[in-house]
Amino acid sequence: MDTFDWKNLPFGYIKTDQNIRCHFKDGKWGKLEASSSEYINIHIAATGLHYGQEAFEGLKAYMGKDGKIRLFRWEENAKRMIFSAGGVKMAPVPVEMFREALFQAVKLNIKFVPPYGSGASLYIRPLLYGSGPEVGVKPADEYTFIVFVTPVGPYFKGGIKPVNMLICRDVDRAAPLGTGIFKVGGNYAASLRALITAKEGGYASTIFLDAKEKKFIDECGPANFFGIKDNTYITPKSESILNSITNMSLIRIAESLGMKTERRRVPVEELSEFIETGACGTAAVISPIGKIVDPDKNMIYEYCKDGMPGKASMKLYNKLVGIQNGDEPDEFGWTTIVE
Ligand SMILES: Cc1ncc(COP(=O)(O)O)c(C=O)c1O
Repeated sequence: MDTFDWKNLPFGYIKTDQNIRCHFKDGKWGKLEASSSEYINIHIAATGLHYGQEAFEGLKAYMGKDGKIRLFRWEENAKRMIFSAGGVKMAPVPVEMFREALFQAVKLNIKFVPPYGSGASLYIRPLLYGSGPEVGVKPADEYTFIVFVTPVGPYFKGGIKPVNMLICRDVDRAAPLGTGIFKVGGNYAASLRALITAKEGGYASTIFLDAKEKKFIDECGPANFFGIKDNTYITPKSESILNSITNMSLIRIAESLGMKTERRRVPVEELSEFIETGACGTAAVISPIGKIVDPDKNMIYEYCKDGMPGKASMKLYNKLVGIQNGDEPDEFGWTTIVE
């Protein structure tokens, strides 16, 4: 596909050749089917439309210098989708079926895998929703699982260039005992008011605080948060954030690089103690944060004053991306080659 300007791809939807679909009916999953249609036929009373019975995942396939395509920790996405399905009472997708759907979706769209060195990758979006009809609030009897792929560039423009974030105190994305730990669409709908306010103010995203006390950092829109001080990688522990696979991986990488790591509540005031902060996730990879603005408290926290990412963030980024692309040895056994 040399019609694409791979180096300038947005994080957006581009049509690819085929997607994979599967239906759950009469208590069991059917066979995976490939489709070239971008559309689904959906019942007007499907629970996925009315009651938010929906969950999704996001992972990437990377083209290596060796011409091999690698998936990063897909088993973790499979497990998280099972966890999310349980969170909104949907039929879970078995791990082996999840794997098969991912592999088929990538293989049927090989020509859309961005080339090595372009900074782009093939984003894989598994989606599960209640497709059976109900009018009362209850779980559906039927479910649909879809995997589509689309080539993407970096989520936050500029790749590893620092981005600015706005602390949001007037919108909660998720309640402590709510659905924040699941990757379900409702959380993202709930985040939109804050996200749009941040975007309109020229910020890359919002930082949500804990919903109960507004004292601790939760996460950065569609990414987890980390801060660095005293050679320590610190990331929030919260019952209302998504357990990021990238963050989990960065903790391991930080330890392997001789850093200490802490997963604990992170008070907002600690922002003034960090020497680096960042957002991390599949889409964001690592986006160093240049400035965090807390308008309600009249505070501005600044990092990367020279406009460059901090040293620790850069080291973590290089190691993570190196493993994902196959440039670094896969010392943790995180990548799977799509044969
Ligand atoms: C709300 C939220 N937090 C964090 C993340 C990062 O998670 P991961 O590293 O598994 O992509 C994502 C993206 O999946 C997200 O949507």
